[in-house]
Amino acid sequence: MAQPHILIFDSGVGGLSVYQAIKATLPDAQYTYLFDNAAFPYGELEDQRLVHRVFALIKATCERHAVDIIVIACNTASTLVLPTLRDALSIPVVGVVPAIKPAAALSQHKAIGLLATPATVNRPYTAQLIADFAKDCRIVSVGTTALVHMAERKLRGEAVNQQDLSAILAPFDSHIDVLVLGCTHFPLLHDEIQAAMGEQVQLIDSGAAIARRIVSLVDNLHIGGATVTTRDHRAYATATPIKADALSEFIHSIGFKHINYSPTFLVRSLHGL
Ligand code: DGL
Repeated sequence: MAQPHILIFDSGVGGLSVYQAIKATLPDAQYTYLFDNAAFPYGELEDQRLVHRVFALIKATCERHAVDIIVIACNTASTLVLPTLRDALSIPVVGVVPAIKPAAALSQHKAIGLLATPATVNRPYTAQLIADFAKDCRIVSVGTTALVHMAERKLRGEAVNQQDLSAILAPFDSHIDVLVLGCTHFPLLHDEIQAAMGEQVQLIDSGAAIARRIVSLVDNLHIGGATVTTRDHRAYATATPIKADALSEFIHSIGFKHINYSPTFLVRSLHGL
């Protein structure tokens, strides 16, 4: 199979959960990871600012690298920015949105929890997903930024406070049998969330479905092959993170050779925004 160059985007480290799911399926592809930590968290960012930033950053990165597929590995961004990107770009843009449809099919009790950022739970896109695919289900939504920060801290080597986590999950009642992890940061806390919810609740995220979607794009559109000249995966961020050494160590450990915090081409792309 031809090997594509895949650009994965998020506000922070959450998209690394999607990268891991895609890489498990396409280990030989070329990966570039881009995160906009200067404007993190996206779950509390004003809509137009989010659209302008994502567009500018993706465009600048595609001008620098011959990318074959873009993955917006962020529910908060995908539920808003996909039409703008798809209108402007000629390469496929794959979005990550809450896995409401498979959750509704799985739920025996017809009671689903949605755990996402405050922006994602309030987006019209999410309301439409529920109306289209989960009309017969009761949905309990929790919008949280605290959990996003917790996932970031975990990847910087800090311990997860299980009590704080349980307090965030407290609104989910005992009838819920499927919990949608509607933010890509949350699979990074999968085991901790599972422990808090109990084994009777099935956690579901979009990682595996996105990986399947990418494989079908590569197969059907004959993407990739010509552009991949190196397997040195690269990560870019828009700011130097807190505890950069600990985070860099993690990012290196999952396969990225080069990490570049706030390179000039990204800083320039955001000028005036
Ligand atoms: N990882 C993101 C998501 O899937 C966004 C987290 C944030 O920046 O608020 O929604």
